[in-house]
Amino acid sequence: MNKIIINGDIHEGVIHKNIYGHFAEHLGRGIYEGIWVGEDSPIPNTQGIRNDVLQALKQLNIPVLRWPGGCFADEYHWKDGVGPYEDRKRMVNTHWGGVVENNHFGTHEFMMLCDMLGAEPYICGNVGSGTVQEMSEWVEYMTFDGESPMTNWRKENGKMAPWKLTYFGVGNENWGCGGNMRPEYYADLYRQYQTYCRNYNDNTLYKIAGGANVDDFHWTEVLMRDAAPFMDGLSLHYYVHPGGFEKKGSAVNFTKEEWKVTMQKAWFIEKLIRKHGTIMDKYDPNKRIGMIIDEWGAWYDAEPGTNPGFLYQQNTIRDALVAGVSLNIFNQHNDRVRMANIAQTVNVIQAMVLTEGDKMLRTPTYHVFDMFQVHQDAKKLSLDIVSEEVEVGDERYSKLSASASEAKDGTIHISLCNLDTDESANTTLHIRGSDMTTATGRVLTAKEMNARNTFESPETVKPTAFTSYKRKGNFLQLELPPMSVVVLALN
Ligand code: AHR
Repeated sequence: MNKIIINGDIHEGVIHKNIYGHFAEHLGRGIYEGIWVGEDSPIPNTQGIRNDVLQALKQLNIPVLRWPGGCFADEYHWKDGVGPYEDRKRMVNTHWGGVVENNHFGTHEFMMLCDMLGAEPYICGNVGSGTVQEMSEWVEYMTFDGESPMTNWRKENGKMAPWKLTYFGVGNENWGCGGNMRPEYYADLYRQYQTYCRNYNDNTLYKIAGGANVDDFHWTEVLMRDAAPFMDGLSLHYYVHPGGFEKKGSAVNFTKEEWKVTMQKAWFIEKLIRKHGTIMDKYDPNKRIGMIIDEWGAWYDAEPGTNPGFLYQQNTIRDALVAGVSLNIFNQHNDRVRMANIAQTVNVIQAMVLTEGDKMLRTPTYHVFDMFQVHQDAKKLSLDIVSEEVEVGDERYSKLSASASEAKDGTIHISLCNLDTDESANTTLHIRGSDMTTATGRVLTAKEMNARNTFESPETVKPTAFTSYKRKGNFLQLELPPMSVVVLALN
């Protein structure tokens, strides 16, 4: 039997809304086709951005969107992506499929997208193949209001007032695709590049240093030791690929054993947060610097028959569980985790929506982000959790994952995941320190492990009302179905 106590009178800070952030790279059909179709497209669009995707994403209240990469960021030269379309340079996207990048989606288009979504931009600058001057001028172009060559150029390109830009990344994966650097070298470059990313007018940048890959604790140690005073955030990248990086496994054809490995790997990010967090604590005991998990998600082999460089994959109820477990973990570690950006919004890796021509579908992961948005900027509540465990090889993980928060109007929300493929999770939920008179909820579940939405059947997996509970005073007896994500509102 599983037990959860919500301590309604123990608040543990705020769950930063940016934990519900997203990432969109110039990769495959993520930006082009997925978001940007251009004004002349027969696909209904607003100033080039497709309406169906825009509407779907708006519903998620995306707080922050990271762009233009990823690996692409360290090969991106922003000046090629501003000005009249006919003058924009065509280049090769060497990282992702070797296709032509026509630079039609550039700074102005990205900022317009953020405006339309009501999301804050998070821009990643080029350290790997760009200069200090180029990065410095990009910040000047976007944020300076006075008289300067970059400001004048921005105005010539139709934008009179500067944009507000808070989040700025100084390079991406500089241990790998961002230049194959050693941490000591990158730490010095970080210090140098960030110096010239100025705060203009009343715009204050939140500068994010490129962080470690998975369990490269040495990287975190060196960055914190050598560059902590110069950063506001340090990133961390972690992907779940059940078969390992080389042969990741299929997104839709998998066994129960692979399901378990996937869940164990999803839980693993908690260990990473703790260990990287311990190193950060050593240099930053007051937790001024945010851990920014700006790439995460379940990454499988590309769907057969698609360009392997486009990283297009389907999305099943298994991915909904990966999202639910990860978001619960980020919520639980709100003292250090200030932002997270799932990879990658549309048509790439663990996407919110998939498109095919003029069709669009919402994935199971989309629905998890929709259900969990109640936690954005809510007060985190302390939880005591007793859960059955699952063994996989030498590892064990909890079958139940949860986090809880209190909204401004006093409503308590709890998000719960039952990771078991076969058994319901019978769970006693006790709300102490607060009174409850009503409980309502939604559940996302499926009968098959690989249940998914397709263009023929786009609503196979979608949330429904959750009614499998009995209430007695401040106790709820819950029956969480196998493979389910449940969010309850308690008043
Ligand atoms: O998200 C796909 C790629 O994964 C990103 O471009 C890179 O940063 C990471 O290795």
